[in-house]
Amino acid sequence: AAPCDLYKNGGTPCVAAHGTTRALYDAYTGPLYQIKRGSDGSTTDISPLSAGGVANADAQDSFCKSTTCLITIIYDQSGRANHLYQAPKGAFSGPDVNGNDNLASAIGAPVTLNGKKAYGVFVSPGTGYRNDEVSGTATGDQPEGMYAVLDGTHYNDACCFDYGNAETSNTDTGNGHMEAIYYGNNTVWGTGSGSGPWLMADLENGLFSGQSPAQNTADPSIYNRFFTGMVKGKPNQWALRGGNAASGSLSTYFSGARPTVGGYNPMSLEGAIILGIGGDNSNGAQGTFYEGVMTSGYPSDSVEASVQANIVAAKYATTSLNTAPLTVGNKISLRATTPGYDTRYIAHSGATVNTQVVSSSSATSLKQQASWTVRTGLGNSDCYSFESVDTPGSFIRHYNFQLQLNSNDNTKAFKEDATFCSNTGLSSGNTIRSWSYPAKSIRHYNNVAYIASQGGVHDFDSATSYNNDVSFVVGASFA
Ligand code: AHR
Ligand code: AHR
Ligand code: AHR
Repeated sequence: AAPCDLYKNGGTPCVAAHGTTRALYDAYTGPLYQIKRGSDGSTTDISPLSAGGVANADAQDSFCKSTTCLITIIYDQSGRANHLYQAPKGAFSGPDVNGNDNLASAIGAPVTLNGKKAYGVFVSPGTGYRNDEVSGTATGDQPEGMYAVLDGTHYNDACCFDYGNAETSNTDTGNGHMEAIYYGNNTVWGTGSGSGPWLMADLENGLFSGQSPAQNTADPSIYNRFFTGMVKGKPNQWALRGGNAASGSLSTYFSGARPTVGGYNPMSLEGAIILGIGGDNSNGAQGTFYEGVMTSGYPSDSVEASVQANIVAAKYATTSLNTAPLTVGNKISLRATTPGYDTRYIAHSGATVNTQVVSSSSATSLKQQASWTVRTGLGNSDCYSFESVDTPGSFIRHYNFQLQLNSNDNTKAFKEDATFCSNTGLSSGNTIRSWSYPAKSIRHYNNVAYIASQGGVHDFDSATSYNNDVSFVVGASFA
């Protein structure tokens, strides 16, 4: 049986069920998520291949062919219409228009389930989903449970990559007004053992790894590529449980009484649902969500064990992040293809990355400035980093979404900013997207290089000429 059938049989039914990868009820045939494409702004729903099955990724691939796609709605499969939408401005503003958060790229998190391709929700900083007008989720001190299947290797230390119960006002209304799964290595509130990332519970004004608001050494650092995280709570009792989503069983990291600091006993839940953000729309965190549910009632450990067995049987596995792979070790040039600009190549002038007209008769120094060595991605080994031929040890990275040539400082942030994945070009050649911001690809604009989304808030996100500006011919290097 599927997760929500198991919870229902256990007397703790799902009141929200979100999965872009698969149906979470054996009988579910409805839509899993909605995508919107950049070419014409139209939308389509992606459904399972069969009742209870894996998402129809081919339908997404054909709808999004030669354009960009964003995930606009993550549908609730429970029948309660607790869908997740683009999160609105809260105490903190998001980067999109009107302070909304960004929507996730539809292609950032490809995986396979039992060998069939599907896409998760890759949350970059600034991305978030929410529903403040919910039905059936826990309020006050009511019991609830939740789980999420996440990418255990995609995280950061910002607040807060969450999935679960939060404020209906998009603001911090006080201790105990949230109960959500948190995943990452934030150390502002609680921590676990090692240096993280950790599963913690976001109970508002605190990420809790145990009863104390500080450290619980029984809460381990997580190294699983696919991770099942669970949080559940009821009057003066809550638990944190987790395990490898690809094999084995769950462990209990904490089970016990509510925090003794004021406000968490009893809880004051409001019942809104968030994904990828904190309760007050703090939106600096990153992570990847594949599927998750919220229940009414406190699920038993045995029901959770059967849910974990079902997740393991779904056989989550990795698949290539590139549809047009590059060859590590090759020295390449990247030629612009936009009519009028197609004698220009990605080059650097000092730290600035731009396009310049280069030919076989150019000076050696310019040829070297336009030549790049393809390296294994510093932030993700399935993708690539581009090392400067004339400045070894320096790589193309984005900073405030502009490309720069900087020396590798070995920080997690640098490595991720310097990692790019390669797809078939939107109009020709290759389109090289940012690993950490998959909605944004390398683009020239006024002959300067950026990572840009199609039709976003920056001038360099202009929809005009987007497909051409993100399409580069990968050729032999000049030097
Ligand atoms: O509890 C941690 C965070 O604190 C919440 O997610 C947010 O609302 C507040 O900033
Ligand atoms: O380019 C976007 C972000 O800007 C980078 O990830 C970060 O390093 C900088 O703040
Ligand atoms: O980068 C050159 C041109 O500048 C791009 O093609 C266009 O989008 C912008 O005006």
